Amino acid sequence: MNVLRLHLLGSPILRQPSSPVARVDADTRRLVEDLFATMRAARGVGLAANQVGVALRVAVVDIGEEDPPPLVLINPVIAERSPETEVSEEGCLSIPDIFGNVKRPVRIVVEALNEQGKPYRVEASGYKARAIQHEIDHLDGILFLDHLSAVKRSLLLAKWKKARKGEKGYLKEVTPEPAGEL
Ligand code: NI
Repeated sequence: MNVLRLHLLGSPILRQPSSPVARVDADTRRLVEDLFATMRAARGVGLAANQVGVALRVAVVDIGEEDPPPLVLINPVIAERSPETEVSEEGCLSIPDIFGNVKRPVRIVVEALNEQGKPYRVEASGYKARAIQHEIDHLDGILFLDHLSAVKRSLLLAKWKKARKGEKGYLKEVTPEPAGEL
């Protein structure tokens, strides 16, 4: 398992729709393991493959539940969305320290392949449904900023640019917290 570098806002791969996985194989499973390792090192609850520079429709979600296990989403499709929506705060590992309130359906049904290439269907609600929708957005080149009003988005972009002043490039090394640290 490898902790990979994160692509940050400004990296073109975050804006391109990713390609479906043609066949789930050992390379796909290695990518899934690396996504989990990188997400955990970065203390995230989800990560999409394009965030580590791989333009394939693969993402992982782990909101910290004991059971069921973390989700592996390969070629995921949202099959159903509840009419009820909910507004809640989101952030993104590719846009560190920037947060915004995003309106999304409260419940969804997702169809995807797991790391063995086996199709499955899962219903999710609340925070988990939000995390899944955020990751599937990534696979379509969409960021949570795109769901905000133009005014809010430009405010956050200005904040981001200010915070990034002097930093070069769009790649970020993920340095896990030492064990035992909070
Ligand atoms: Ni994100």
